[in-house]
Amino acid sequence: MKDRLSVRFAAIGAPREGAAVVLTGPENGLAKTAKALDKGQQLERAIRVADFSGKFGATVDVVAPAGSPLDRILVLGTGGPDELDEYGWMRLGGAIYAALRGAARIDVVVELAGDKAVDPRSAAGLALGAALRAYSFDRYKTRDDKARAGGPVALTIRCARHAAAEKAFEAMEGLAAGVYLARDLVNEPANMLGPVEFAQRAERLSSLGVKVEVLGEKEMRKLGMGALLGVAQGSVRPPRLVVMRWNGGRAGDRPVALVGKGVVFDTGGNSMKPASSMEDMRGDVGGAAAVVGAMHAIAARKAKANVVGVIGCVENMVDANAQRPGDIVTSMSRQTIEVLNTDAEGRLVLADAMTYCQQKLQPKVMIDLATLTGAIIVALGQHHAGLFSNDDTLASQLIEAGNETHEKVWRMPLGPEYDKLIDSKNADMKNIGGRYGGAISAAQFLQRFVKDTPWAHLDIAGTAMNAPNSDISPSWASGFGVRLLDRLVRDHYEK
Ligand code: BES
Ligand code: MN
Ligand code: ZN
Repeated sequence: MKDRLSVRFAAIGAPREGAAVVLTGPENGLAKTAKALDKGQQLERAIRVADFSGKFGATVDVVAPAGSPLDRILVLGTGGPDELDEYGWMRLGGAIYAALRGAARIDVVVELAGDKAVDPRSAAGLALGAALRAYSFDRYKTRDDKARAGGPVALTIRCARHAAAEKAFEAMEGLAAGVYLARDLVNEPANMLGPVEFAQRAERLSSLGVKVEVLGEKEMRKLGMGALLGVAQGSVRPPRLVVMRWNGGRAGDRPVALVGKGVVFDTGGNSMKPASSMEDMRGDVGGAAAVVGAMHAIAARKAKANVVGVIGCVENMVDANAQRPGDIVTSMSRQTIEVLNTDAEGRLVLADAMTYCQQKLQPKVMIDLATLTGAIIVALGQHHAGLFSNDDTLASQLIEAGNETHEKVWRMPLGPEYDKLIDSKNADMKNIGGRYGGAISAAQFLQRFVKDTPWAHLDIAGTAMNAPNSDISPSWASGFGVRLLDRLVRDHYEK
C-alpha cells in the first residue's frame, strides 16, 4: 500500500503546494481555512457559477487558481451530517483519490463550516478510504497505459487533533493491508497461484506472529478427507489445507474460527462450465482470500482474541483422473456423499475443512466464507452476501458488523424442507439440490457438517469478485469480508 499512497497528518492550515481539497455541505458554505485560501474569491465564484450544491460527492475543480501557489483546489460536497457516517468518510477519501489521480501531492483540509471539529477517527477513515481506492492490480502490465496506476501519492490530512487521527489511522493500516492482500489473492491468475502457492502466501502471515501449519495430500488422506481430495484429484497441482492460529486472547479461550473456500480455478470438472462462466473462475478463492486477509488485519493490530483460520486450497480440473458425476466419496465426518455434479465442488472442500476445524480446534463459533453459488447472485445481486446461520446471536452480530463496514449481509433461510432436497438414494447425501433455491440447498449441505457449534455461512459469490467499482475499490476483486470479519472480532470477541 505504501508504494501507492503515503499518508501524513497535520494541524489544520492552508496547504501551500500541490492539489488542495476543501469540504463543504449543502447549506453551510466554505469553512474557515477554505475561505482564507480563497483570497481572490475565485472559489466562491466557481461554486456559484457551477451551481455547486454541496451534495455528497459533488465537486468543483478550480485549476491553477490565480495568485495561489496551489495547482488546484477541489471543492468536495459532503452532503448533510447523516451522510457522514463511518462509511461516508471513507467514500470521501476514495473520491478524493480518484478525482485527483495524477497529482503527486494532495492536501485535504478536514474542516466543516460551523464550529464543531471533525472527529479524528473520521479523518482517519477518510485516509483509509483513499488508501483502499489507491489499490491497483497492475503487476502484469508492462506498458504505461491508462490502466496502470500513476506514481505514488503523498496525502496530507489536515485536521483537528491530528495526533489522535494519526494514531487511529495507524490502527487501520493493517486492515488496509489485509484488504490489499485479499484482493491480490483473488485477482492473481490461476497459473501464478495454484494451491501450493496460495498456501505459501498464507504462510507469510508468520511474520506477524500467526502460527501457520500446512497439510499436504498425505496428511489429508490419513484424516479421511475424501470429499476435498475427490475435488483435487483431477489436478496435477496437489491440494493444501492451511491452518492459521492467532493467539492474542486468554490461553485456553476457545477460538473464533474462519473457514474459507480456496478453489484456485473452477472449471466445473467433468460437469464442465461453458467458457463464458469459466472466465472468472480464478476468483473462486474469494472465501480463502477473505480469511487470510482478515487474519492479517487481526494479527497486525494484535487483537486480544484467539482466532483461527482454515482454508482448503484445491483446483477443480477436467482430467482423465477427475471425479465423475455419480462418484461416492467419504468425508472426514464419515458421512458419504454422492457427487452428482462435479461443479458443486466448493461444498465438498468446505465439508472437510469445517470438520477438521471443529474436531481439531474446538471453536466457540465458526464462520465459513465461500464463492459458493451462482444462485446467491441471482437472489441478492452484488451488494449483499448471503448469510445462513444456525444461531440468531451470531447472525445479528454479522448483520450489524456488515452495516457498520458496508460489507453487507442478508440473512437467508434454512430448514428441514430444504434439507430434504439433498437426500440421496445411494449415499448419505448428494451434492446438489435441484434448480430452486440453489444457495439454500448448498448451505443445507454445509450444515450437515456442523455439530453443535454456532455457525454462519457467507455466500460471497456476488460480492467478492467481478465487483462493480465503488468509491473505495477500483478492483475486480473487492476484498469482501476482511473488514467485516475484523469488525466482528473487534466488536464481539475481544476484551
Ligand atoms: N464457484 C462456483 C459458484 C460461482 C458462480 C461463483 C459464479 C462466482 C460466480 C461454484 O463452484 C459452482 O459452480 N456452483 C454451481 C453449483 C451447481 C452446480 C449446483 C452453480 O452455482 O452453478
Ligand atoms: Mn463449481
Ligand atoms: Zn466453485
